[in-house]
Amino acid sequence: MKGLILSGGKGTRLRPFTYTGAKQLVPVANKPVLFYAIEDLVEAGVTDLCIVISPETGDQVKAAVGDGSRFGARVEYIVQDAPRGIAHGIKIARDFIGDERFILFLGDNFIRDGIISQVNAFREGTMNAQIILYKLEDPSSMGVAVLDGDGRVTRLVEKPKQFISPYGVIGIYMFDHHVFEAVNAIKPSARGELEITDTIQYLIDHKLDVRAHLLNGAWIDTGKMSDILEANRLVLDTLEPKNEGQVDGTSIIEGRVVLQAGAVIQNSRIRGPAIIGERTRIENAFVGPYTSIYHDCLIRHCEIEHSVVLEHSTIVDIPTRIADSLIGRNTEVARAGGHTKTLKMMIGDYSKVGI
Ligand code: TTP
Repeated sequence: MKGLILSGGKGTRLRPFTYTGAKQLVPVANKPVLFYAIEDLVEAGVTDLCIVISPETGDQVKAAVGDGSRFGARVEYIVQDAPRGIAHGIKIARDFIGDERFILFLGDNFIRDGIISQVNAFREGTMNAQIILYKLEDPSSMGVAVLDGDGRVTRLVEKPKQFISPYGVIGIYMFDHHVFEAVNAIKPSARGELEITDTIQYLIDHKLDVRAHLLNGAWIDTGKMSDILEANRLVLDTLEPKNEGQVDGTSIIEGRVVLQAGAVIQNSRIRGPAIIGERTRIENAFVGPYTSIYHDCLIRHCEIEHSVVLEHSTIVDIPTRIADSLIGRNTEVARAGGHTKTLKMMIGDYSKVGI
């Protein structure tokens, strides 16, 4: 079986980060979210991979993933000229897939417990397609599946206005070659995209066997800031403590904390679960639970918790605790005098904020 990962798209919900960076490279516990998808596929025995990239952010994705050897995979790339839809991503991967069965994994989808059981069910079964469902009280912002009593999918509706079923369709799908017939037959939707929902509905309408697998563990679509903080919390909760950095005698490390190679902690308190990236310096500061500070950052004279900070950023002399924040790459947050109140920020790459 082969793996197809979509890592292009517009990423409008995660602006301003997506003006300059691929959303699939936003780190969750200091690892790009895309890497979790690759690792999930490899762990399920799917190592022949193709990543669909965009002309804007494709080079970043290529630089991060390379030829896949560090994951134990073989990775090739296809550039999608514009975000023409998830089904369009399938269409342009025809040569790579050939007639094999394959897994389609959206590169911003995060699932905590891997995909081994779902992949095995598809590998061993005779179904033509398998979708993965997540039970929600209100799945109305997603594609929603209606099932018959045998786990067959009878209907899919994109963002239904009325409640039809509690099962939202998540971004991991499995197909055999019939899917190419579908993506070649469907027409772009009102928003101008070839829709995956229409693709699967086509398979159902043509009497192909489309099955559903209900996910028990956690799933997060990391397309929005709050989702990234949530995914970060989930992964930090499972971290094994590790110290590859330096901690001076006046610092206190509490709970599950990972200090990556070259991290330096001086006169500070780190209260886990938290991860501090490579070469990052924490000086006279407090880093609280559920915080990931990525590589090459400087955190000095400030308090930060439940936040994600991307690489090469500086946070210095902030009188108020920073919480619930996602701070972009190469940012500078520095004191500019004033009152003390909680700050809640979504600051884009290369921003500078004076407080
Ligand atoms: P979406 O999150 O559905 O779309 P998007 O990336 O355009 O984001 P937004 O809604 O915030 O504007 O995409 C899911 C995944 O599929 C994501 O990893 C991007 C990828 N994708 C492509 O590679 N090509 C496409 O044409 C589309 C629509 C998505």
